[in-house]
Amino acid sequence: MDTFHIEGPVRLEGTIDISGSKNASLPIMAAAILAPGTTILRGVPRLSDISVLKQLLERLGAKVDRDNGDWQIDTSRIDNPVGEYEILRKMRAGICILGPLVARCGRAEVSMPGGCAIGDRPVDIHLHGMRELGAKIYLENGNIVATAEGGLRGKRIFLGGPFGSTVLGTANVLMAATLAKGTTVIESAACEPEIEDLANCLNAMGAKISGIGSPRLTVEGVTSLRPVEHRVIEDRIEAGTFMVAAGITGGRLRLRNCRLEHLLAVVDRLERIGVTVEATEDGCVVTRTGRIKPADVTTQPYPGFPTDLQAQLMAMLALADGNSVITEKIFPDRFMHVAELNRMAANLRKEGPSVIVAGVQRLIAAPVMASDLRASAALVLAGIAARGKTIVNRVYHIDRGYERIEEKLNAAGAKILRKSE
Ligand code: EPU
Repeated sequence: MDTFHIEGPVRLEGTIDISGSKNASLPIMAAAILAPGTTILRGVPRLSDISVLKQLLERLGAKVDRDNGDWQIDTSRIDNPVGEYEILRKMRAGICILGPLVARCGRAEVSMPGGCAIGDRPVDIHLHGMRELGAKIYLENGNIVATAEGGLRGKRIFLGGPFGSTVLGTANVLMAATLAKGTTVIESAACEPEIEDLANCLNAMGAKISGIGSPRLTVEGVTSLRPVEHRVIEDRIEAGTFMVAAGITGGRLRLRNCRLEHLLAVVDRLERIGVTVEATEDGCVVTRTGRIKPADVTTQPYPGFPTDLQAQLMAMLALADGNSVITEKIFPDRFMHVAELNRMAANLRKEGPSVIVAGVQRLIAAPVMASDLRASAALVLAGIAARGKTIVNRVYHIDRGYERIEEKLNAAGAKILRKSE
């Protein structure tokens, strides 16, 4: 198991290229199931989560190859519409094969994902949406069995839940609806850029989706889709993580290949905290020269502040001149990093779905444990800013969602050593 040994503090300065989006790539790879033939995807990052989805698609019967950085997904044959527990337990996002499999094969059997470090993560809304489209769904041996022998039928479907919209739930129902008979209207659809990218890719495949980017998606069902070539969007969460990296170290980072329009809530918060974000032709330059100011932050569905950047921002606010309150409205238990940051001399106190962050003068290095992807990123950033040598254990969490993070940060002056132990 790899660990990171991080020497701090350092001030980051340099240029970082943002990779393609993990959370856009995963459902778009699944969308290839809907279009028999070879779909070519560009910009898909090299991450362990992507390898898990590759494995899942191969078990279904697809051929998946990477050539010169492009993924070729040949779905001419999909003869085993089964998502096994052995794979789904590694990555919950594997649930996004459910909608495309039912639409293409009239049947799917996909392991019910379990909970994870960031909370319960139910899939009831995915199943509600699939039922509304006419699928029969039952649970057997921990598997979701979905059948639609006469095909799916379009309908007006409300997809909101207790915490707002659902990203992968919207992806599943949207993909299934493309091949349903008649018109589907998805109300309270997720508006995340990753869903927009998926919808654009589906339209390129021949789907008829309108309202893209809004909470009401209208889908006119078609009888078939064709494979396409598609470039996935840039990873806004990776970009946001590096923005915080510049901020927490009082540094200056130029981020290339990043779309600020996907990060408006993040830029708004960062600027209040004292970080400057200047747009450039292909991204932005992020700088902090003054002290870190405290701020209150609440995570929300897009276009609000993303839950996937909550932990990283907390690491930075731990060093603010005053008290901040961070409230988590998407995954109220997503606070595994709190105890670890406190081991590094932060002063954080959890109160229900909020954390009171009392700013401290400095963070002090310590051995810490990564618990999930974004929590690990927060610990890496804290380690770069802390005095001494921080050891981050269980780095495999970070490899799930950040492409070569230590190389990118080291090129900007960080001192991160990966050790296999
Ligand atoms: N929810 C339900 N029922 C459902 C589905 C969701 O109650 O059937 C609840 C969830 O428990 C949560 C809220 O709805 O409280 C939103 O969850 P959502 O379904 O949107 O999450 P997801 O689609 O499973 C994606 C990202 C996550 C990101 C969330 C929120 C992918 C592969 N994953 O998950 O990314 O945190 O949206 O933006 O796109 C990450 O990259 O680190 C990560 C966890």
